[in-house]
Amino acid sequence: MHKGEPVYSGKAKSLYATDDPRLMVMEFRDDTSAFDGQKVARLARKGMVNNYLNAFLMERLAAAGIPTHFVRRLSATRSLVKRLAMVPLECVVRNRAAGSLCRRLGVEEGRVLSPPTFELFLKNDALHDPLVNEYHAVTFGWADRPTLARMVEQSFRVNELLSPLFADAGLVLVDFKLEFGWADGELVLGDELSPDGCRIWDAASGEKLDKDRFRKDLGRVVESYEEIAARLGVPLPASP
Ligand code: TMP
Ligand code: ASP
Repeated sequence: MHKGEPVYSGKAKSLYATDDPRLMVMEFRDDTSAFDGQKVARLARKGMVNNYLNAFLMERLAAAGIPTHFVRRLSATRSLVKRLAMVPLECVVRNRAAGSLCRRLGVEEGRVLSPPTFELFLKNDALHDPLVNEYHAVTFGWADRPTLARMVEQSFRVNELLSPLFADAGLVLVDFKLEFGWADGELVLGDELSPDGCRIWDAASGEKLDKDRFRKDLGRVVESYEEIAARLGVPLPASP
């Protein structure tokens, strides 16, 4: 279905053109990166596990009325998606304190955030994706006010849908990052939903089951992603 070289290749995914200019093939690679690409590795099966988890979560969101770019899974590591004009912002929803929030505000990890909070980051590797606010976004033309309001609303709605889904599987959705883009005049959820862009903890033990295992050298990275898939009831193909 796809042709030629990737149109875009990021740190963990590649995008290919298709015969239809409105559609792209998204390939989930085994490449893993953290700290703006300072730490990289190839983790066998990660692309496949993330492709399956992303398909499952995107389909759940679409069924609940969230517009997304996801069309269907094509193979173990590839999915068909709508071509989007991306908003250059990352939307982060946090239910518990972790990561950069703890470092920035001196909050202890794991503190329950009530109500959940929202942060915006500019997608700019050279600047290390800095935290920005909605006034910056409007002033610099990254997104207008109605678009920002819609991104915030959709982000919290995703949280309301996914938090109970994870809770029912004995998992805590600590935080997650979303990206949005435009397709045919509609703002839709793009990018991916996987343990690469979320923090997910075991509810009973607090054990980290997401990309923090890679960032912090905790080991068993893909095994933990597979554990998340198993708990959510997402069947994965056996190892070749
Ligand atoms: P942070 O605590 O490092 O700001 O990350 C918040 C959430 O966003 C966490 O779930 C990981 C995710 N994230 C990405 O998906 N990509 C990134 O480049 C960064 C920095 C965070
Ligand atoms: N995804 C980013 C990177 O590769 C940051 C991170 O997730 O830690 O560098």
